[in-house]
Amino acid sequence: MGDGIIIAPSMLASDFCRLGDEVVAVDRAGADWIHLDVMDGHFVPNLTFGAPIIKALRAVTDKTFDVHLMVANPDTLLDAYADAGAEIITVHFEACPHLDRTLARIRDLGCRAGVSLNPHTPADVLRHVLDRLDLILVMTVNPGFGGQSFITGMLDKIATVREMTAGRDIVIEVDGGITPETTSLVTAAGARALVAGSAIFKGDGEAGYRANIDVIRADAQV
Ligand code: DX5
Ligand code: ZN
Repeated sequence: MGDGIIIAPSMLASDFCRLGDEVVAVDRAGADWIHLDVMDGHFVPNLTFGAPIIKALRAVTDKTFDVHLMVANPDTLLDAYADAGAEIITVHFEACPHLDRTLARIRDLGCRAGVSLNPHTPADVLRHVLDRLDLILVMTVNPGFGGQSFITGMLDKIATVREMTAGRDIVIEVDGGITPETTSLVTAAGARALVAGSAIFKGDGEAGYRANIDVIRADAQV
């Protein structure tokens, strides 16, 4: 998936009342991907939006849709998210008893396949599915809510994922508590795609979001 840092604003922190306008604003502000957090109220104790809303948003931007499925039994939903226009579908390791098959299905649908690891899940569980992976998402908070504090212990895991994926075309993504303060730590450890919600969706619309993205991008290169 190319080179260089990827900034993926999480729409979870945007104004849901104006979701389409917020996608447009953050697209114009310099987002590389649009990160869409799907929560089902079972796998995580929160509920957000699903495929119909993502399909509606597809009309307002050409940016890559990075869909983070925090749901139980994602297998039954994969077709719907591919149909909605997801380019990347990331499932949780903890929600997939047949992960190898789930990942194969995501690629069969024409999408790039990602796996997310909760903070307690070791990197090593992915060693035997690396051939099926385009992205590994290291959760740097416990999933379910925006605005939480970065878990410093995850830096070790990012470094382990970097070693494990050396020489492969697998993007290492991080999600949760990514701010100007934590950005250089995660990129130094090996992260390339940075999800940020509350650090980007503050300030005055497009201009504010651009300033926030620019700071994170600058810190990522240090
Ligand atoms: C958390 C979500 C994140 C969330 C990050 O479960 O997966 O994408 O929006 O929010 P911040 O950047 O505020 O920690
Ligand atoms: Zn997310």
